[in-house]
Amino acid sequence: MSIAEKFVTMEYGPAPEDPKEAGAWLERHGQRFGLFIGGMWQPPAAGEYFDTIDPSNGEKLAAVAQGGVADIDAAVRAARAASPKWRGLAPHARARYLYALARLVQKHSRLLAVLETMDNGKPIRESRDIDIPLVARHFYYHAGWAQLVEQEFPDYEPCGVVGQIIPWNFPLLMLAWKIAPALATGNTVVLKPAEFTPLTALLFAELCQEAGLPEGVVNIVTGDGRTGEALVKHPDVDKIAFTGSTEVGRAIRSATAASHKRLSLELGGKSPFIIFEDADLDSAVEGLVDGIWFNQGQVCCAGSRLLMQESIAEPLIAKIRDRMSSLRIGPPLDKAIDIGAIVARVQLDRIERMVAQGVADGATCWQPQVVLPSRGFYYPPTLLSNVHPTSIVAQQEIFGPVLAAMTFRTPKEAVELANNTVYGLASCVWSENINVALHVAAQLKAGVVWVNCTNLFDAACGFGGYRESGYGREGGREGLLEYMEPAWFKHAQVLPPAKALATAQVPGQAEERPDASTPAIDRTVKLYIGGKQARPDSGYSMEVRSPDGRLLGEAPLGNRKDIRNAVEAARKAESWARATAHNRAQILYYCAENLAQRQSEIVPRLAAAVGEKQASAEVELGIARIFSYAAWADKFDGAVHNPPFRNISIAMNEAIGTVGVICPAEAPLLGFLSLVLPLLAVGNTVIAVPSEKYPLITGDLYQLFDTSDLPGGAINIVTGYASQLLKTLAEHDDVDGIWCYGDEATVSAAKAMSTGNLKQVWTNEGRAIDWFNPKLAEGRWFLEHATQVKNIWVPYGE
Ligand code: NAI
Repeated sequence: MSIAEKFVTMEYGPAPEDPKEAGAWLERHGQRFGLFIGGMWQPPAAGEYFDTIDPSNGEKLAAVAQGGVADIDAAVRAARAASPKWRGLAPHARARYLYALARLVQKHSRLLAVLETMDNGKPIRESRDIDIPLVARHFYYHAGWAQLVEQEFPDYEPCGVVGQIIPWNFPLLMLAWKIAPALATGNTVVLKPAEFTPLTALLFAELCQEAGLPEGVVNIVTGDGRTGEALVKHPDVDKIAFTGSTEVGRAIRSATAASHKRLSLELGGKSPFIIFEDADLDSAVEGLVDGIWFNQGQVCCAGSRLLMQESIAEPLIAKIRDRMSSLRIGPPLDKAIDIGAIVARVQLDRIERMVAQGVADGATCWQPQVVLPSRGFYYPPTLLSNVHPTSIVAQQEIFGPVLAAMTFRTPKEAVELANNTVYGLASCVWSENINVALHVAAQLKAGVVWVNCTNLFDAACGFGGYRESGYGREGGREGLLEYMEPAWFKHAQVLPPAKALATAQVPGQAEERPDASTPAIDRTVKLYIGGKQARPDSGYSMEVRSPDGRLLGEAPLGNRKDIRNAVEAARKAESWARATAHNRAQILYYCAENLAQRQSEIVPRLAAAVGEKQASAEVELGIARIFSYAAWADKFDGAVHNPPFRNISIAMNEAIGTVGVICPAEAPLLGFLSLVLPLLAVGNTVIAVPSEKYPLITGDLYQLFDTSDLPGGAINIVTGYASQLLKTLAEHDDVDGIWCYGDEATVSAAKAMSTGNLKQVWTNEGRAIDWFNPKLAEGRWFLEHATQVKNIWVPYGE
């Protein structure tokens, strides 16, 4: 073809990247890799290996070790042994190591990019221009945090030994997202790469050696799900960080429930890509190319659900088809390729199966006329239109280059459709009207919202999900907190089992010891639901006795039905989240004022359960605690990040939603206020189960809330046996989070019972909290758990 003809057709030939260097690296290792443990290469204890292949042609690249239980144990021991020295290093020394890793990634960037493409099948253009530069950026950014961490978080300690499990879609990038913050905060690491894509992690192990990283600080154990499972179950691992499918995330959540392992989960998504009629349609279509055809759609935050305003659906679909026809599919090492290979045969089968199911559900399937390579695993870009919102292709993650399109009429309908999923990872909004775009962004239940842009990432901007997309953030200041804990909390004493306490309350069990000073039964409190006092569904109540057995009153025995009513009321009160922070602050101040006014009545009543001294302190400090959260209500602000693009990213601290709280037994008033107030201050609605020891406090509390203008349903109180009420709260799909403060058995039950919809659970890990010490029992740490960060990316410039 002549140059002149080329100008007409705009066709261009292949531009293959040379795989020679990567081939030589594989050769040097004899196409066979062991495990990287304690700074050395070791064969797997059981001598098992598996092949990793190039999905673009099905050829074997290398044999890789299948790590077993013994190998995981050796790696955890190496990480434990390295821990004291690593965390004891001066921050500047750790910063130098991270900086060295950043520089080495840059130095070897071409080799890393080629190897990544060979092992994963992603276009070299993406691994070269997106994955690897982001890896380097992550290490630079966290080299900075390593330097600053002690200044910025003086009272925090690293978790210790961290187990990290990553997927195959962004192998080295996910490694960087996990390892960089862990090391910066002083943890040591055992990382398990995905079985389809272990090679760049093994090359990274060599970079660790080259950087002179102390032995055992980073350990890489390859293998499949069984290796991951062994890491999750290892008793000497302090934290698990996982990215992968929601199904495995749920299994990990169950497996860690009975332990004190901290957990962060970055799971699947079904992210909406919303295009309004006033959007710049050509830009939106380009955005869509990056949204769903980037990395063959194997992206957890892929914009896989296209929601189009009805008026533009037809021209938009025409533009999308047109653009799809010009996408180039083929060998990923070709620099001119847009869509490379699917990672493995099993993933290709899954995509084919799901698309067939979508068509059977009534969707119309359109694919451009493309010739796929004869070898390897390829799938053409695919558009499914007329998709019903309940179809499997609208609800489940396909993880392939498949777009499911639907229409909407109004912004309200767009938000409803967008949120009609169990996930909440990311979303895109396209509109030239910034007011509409930001209004919609605020209502989307997702950890990231890209306005007029898509799939942008930066180390400074936290990434992570709402709902079943997981919890915890990677990147940003909030990402660091996943790898640290307040030192006092880590070393707090473990509470004795609560059994003795609970049985003391069983009706009739304690001896009646009347004496002349015994007051008559003075109170029978009610439940407090939707701003009203309510009788319990069961019609039963529980006797409440003083420590010496005197009958103090009766509290309703709440049951499942009462919890459900309370959840419904809390859901209806969601306008509380939209009240201005100033408004919320004023209402909380008013609560404090009312508590102060009733101080003289409440103290003697509470004293009957906890003694005069504690009662006075609880009320006095309770007033201060409410003041504290009234103060915080309009001060717990987010941040504005300035990533290295023409964008700002607005990090908002958003309420979690509806949260169930199991209050501590030991401080009936102060414990209640210490947990419920931070949640209310930032706009959550709450269902609280008060102290089993003295549930009669409910009567005083609802009088307080009733007279303080708190909208009905913002706080609901259900008394009864905490263990029974916890089960209903934990299993309820309309509850977004659980805060459970109790003994070890209760908190592990809270974690185990709430795996269904993967709600966020925060507990005291069965440890004693000194509620009377404001330095420990209030402030940022509580507010951080009461919120989740949403990053809204907004581009600027013409
Ligand atoms: P997966 O969740 O099974 O694998 C992710 C990682 O977890 C791998 O390293 C794997 O070896 C490990 N793993 C598997 N079972 C484990 C267990 N019981 N305990 C501990 N670790 C375990 O994902 P898979 O099978 O590779 O892909 C299946 C689907 O998951 C995909 O089609 C996609 O929909 C979704 N997925 C989502 C990802 C995301 O980033 N959100 C990433 C990868 C997959």
